[in-house]
Amino acid sequence: MDLYEVYKQFPVLQKTIGCNKLIYLDNAATTQKPLSVINALADYYKKSNANVYRSGHFLARKAQKEFDKARRLFLEFVNGTNVGQVVFTKNATEAINAVIMGIVYKKLFRGEDLADKVVVTTYAEHNSNLLPYLRLQKLGVKIKIVGLQQDGAIDYKELEEFIAECRKEILLVGVNHVSNVTGNITDIERIAELMRKSHVVWLLDAAQSIAHLPIDVKKLGLDYLVFSGHKMYAPMGIGGVYIKADRLEDLDSYIIGGGTVDRVTDSKMVYKSGSEFLIGGTPNVGGAVGLAEAISFINNIGRAFLQNHFKDLIERSLDHVEKLISKWKGTLHYIGAQDSKRKSGVFSFYIRGFTELDPVRYFDEEGIAVRGGKHCAHLLHQYLKIPYTLRASYAVYNTPSDIDTFFEVLDAYLSVIKD
Ligand code: ALA
Repeated sequence: MDLYEVYKQFPVLQKTIGCNKLIYLDNAATTQKPLSVINALADYYKKSNANVYRSGHFLARKAQKEFDKARRLFLEFVNGTNVGQVVFTKNATEAINAVIMGIVYKKLFRGEDLADKVVVTTYAEHNSNLLPYLRLQKLGVKIKIVGLQQDGAIDYKELEEFIAECRKEILLVGVNHVSNVTGNITDIERIAELMRKSHVVWLLDAAQSIAHLPIDVKKLGLDYLVFSGHKMYAPMGIGGVYIKADRLEDLDSYIIGGGTVDRVTDSKMVYKSGSEFLIGGTPNVGGAVGLAEAISFINNIGRAFLQNHFKDLIERSLDHVEKLISKWKGTLHYIGAQDSKRKSGVFSFYIRGFTELDPVRYFDEEGIAVRGGKHCAHLLHQYLKIPYTLRASYAVYNTPSDIDTFFEVLDAYLSVIKD
């Protein structure tokens, strides 16, 4: 597979913005979709659309087959054990809420006290892997937020010490695999080992990593893996959670309603077995079909291509970073690891002293899509004592020339604001 073969599968990348060819570097917010995914979605609605796990007619059976195929493909993608452990939600945010509220509801309905319990997360998290825990303080649950090292990596020692001291009180440890701001890759093998030997339940937020890095839930002994489809070339509105078999009994239903029960009387309901009871209502079947196609797209590209491609883009970027931070010392601040082995394709900068000329607009005028702001990681920015960052984030279709152009335009922007 060569890069041009990959690139030309994405129709939107042919677009021009003003006089410039689009360079899309906002992939941490959402990735573009290959033609195969767009066609699969359209085909599903043209040929197969029906509700699933309800009706028995031809179209319903066909839709259900496609939905189950998507669950199976995802299961294989993360090396899970049983398709019943894959639950589709609308995105990673909903999946995290389903897990933590599922745990809390179960304990509350059993009459257990939550006041001595604690949820652990880190300062490197996106709001979706922070706010669902923070809110639990209203129920008396404590929250421990683990600090960061100089380059934004998790302070593993602090995490280890906390777990050694409080492991019996911990409801859940939630960490990201890749930060959506620093692009740092979490040492998940180290965390897996710690959780295994401490018997602590943990959740990995793979929203920013699932498209680029391999994840093996069995090897990691992961309790919960959450992801968003739209950040892995699938449509918006589909995501989910892989749940370790032993954990299913720790959860109550987060959204109860149609599809969650086998029997109902006026005073009682009996949940469906497996994981079907977890999320009520009609699922996004079309989205699941698109997700299956996106997984096939990633599988066809292959891990070797992905690994080499991202290594090239990241090393190239780090070279640019080194030159620019030395040229613009005091003005341009790079956030994140400088070791390519611990870095994903997310590059964020704080530009001290820009006033009127918004960097995102400046890039937009050159046809380059980047994101500026706090990236829904308010606490991380507060921790780093910076008000915002400018972020470029990469995907499989980005070329070395896209990266060179981004850094040339960043240099030009800095020249303009320093004039
Ligand atoms: N989490 C997404 C981002 O970082 C929305 O842009």
